[in-house]
Amino acid sequence: MSGAILFQVNGKTCSPAASEQLPLLSVLRDDLGLSGPKFGCGQGECGACTVLVDGRPQTSCNLPLWSVQNRQVSTLEGLGSPEHPHPLQTAFLEENAAQCGYCIAGIITAAAALLQAQPNPSRADIVQALDKHLCRCGAHNRMIRAVQKAALTMSCHPDQATVKPKA
Ligand code: FES
Repeated sequence: MSGAILFQVNGKTCSPAASEQLPLLSVLRDDLGLSGPKFGCGQGECGACTVLVDGRPQTSCNLPLWSVQNRQVSTLEGLGSPEHPHPLQTAFLEENAAQCGYCIAGIITAAAALLQAQPNPSRADIVQALDKHLCRCGAHNRMIRAVQKAALTMSCHPDQATVKPKA
């Protein structure tokens, strides 16, 4: 069934049969089966639900569905796959940057937007980009190292530097 709101998710056109007032996060998880973005605070404060809307990080828990009409949404699932991981996903694994992992999808998604806009970020740039993301395990330093590592990988392999939504 299709609804009134039409948008792209990870490169696919969607028109879910959901109220346009529902938070985008609910629609992504409950209607489209995308479990990457997580529900944390529900108030735009923790970053667990972060997705990219037209390439910019946005918290999806406080974004009504109607606001993404005709826009492009990317979730963690659109960044890479187990077979073809995004360099950030590889680096986060290599650096053991996840502890409980609840915040990781939002953090990797925000980091992907950072590297897209700024391929060679300083440590301060990374800290600022991830500043609004809560990690209760305190794995921040490992995450920063992982983002630095991914930036290095992507500078050596610029073809991996673009967020490519899955077709
Ligand atoms: Fe959206 Fe916390 S669940 S910011």
